[in-house]
Amino acid sequence: MSPEPHELHLHDPQTLYRHWEESQWSPWEVDLSADRTQWESMEDRTLVSFILSSLMVAEERITTKFSGLVGADGSEEEVAFLATQQVDEARHMQFYARFQDEVVSEPALIAAHVQSAREQVSPAFRTIFDDKLVAAHDRLLANPGDEAAKVAFVTIYHLVLEATLGLTTFEFSTRFLERESLLPGFVTGYTKIHHDEHRHIGYGIWFLRKAVAEDTAMGDVVRGTLRDLLPAVAESLTPPAGADASVLGASADELRAFALDGLTRRLNIIGVPIDSL
Ligand SMILES: [Fe+2]
Ligand SMILES: [Fe+2]
Repeated sequence: MSPEPHELHLHDPQTLYRHWEESQWSPWEVDLSADRTQWESMEDRTLVSFILSSLMVAEERITTKFSGLVGADGSEEEVAFLATQQVDEARHMQFYARFQDEVVSEPALIAAHVQSAREQVSPAFRTIFDDKLVAAHDRLLANPGDEAAKVAFVTIYHLVLEATLGLTTFEFSTRFLERESLLPGFVTGYTKIHHDEHRHIGYGIWFLRKAVAEDTAMGDVVRGTLRDLLPAVAESLTPPAGADASVLGASADELRAFALDGLTRRLNIIGVPIDSL
């Protein structure tokens, strides 16, 4: 059972900062030797490659389009927590790049891995990460004191990309990889990343709920941002062309239902019920 909003306790940025101090890990501690052997003998890599490419591209964007939020107006505790999130995102990007270096291809600069991964991601994915996220980040960088710009950015980044798209991708990708006993090192690293993501999402929900409680106009900013983004999000939750979708063990409808359920719960907590969109 998911908790009702009144039962739910959201951690404030200071508590989340302390959790970060207690949750350090290194991308180089994860053992990738079994993954390397498996990769060599894997017959159909279409679905796995699609997942890896999507994560590589997403995490590069997520890392390099974040500093505007660290620099936006906020308390010292908030800025300290956001600085830790920026380090986490860089760590995630390093893990995916290391996986490319040591399992998928040859060692290369991160930009080269991102470039080849980009060839595999969908147009909807590019709309979200190259257009919408970048535009919201540019706006916040230019207006660090603009609360609406910050709310729009956190809605895209934490609520849509990390919570809705990210948690759904994690759920179905790890279910598939574990069921097929594939890439155990990757699953270990991805699970550590997932724990970090919960902390980030916790901040996003805390911030949005507070912003909406303080100024109801911010609820309209959340609604407008979601309406603009959700078609591309729904489209991007589709298994890739060329992959046997049945291999994933879940249909696009199941992916979308999972994503929508999580989004509905989080919007209730924020105070912007989904039927008000
Ligand atoms: Fe991340
Ligand atoms: Fe994150």
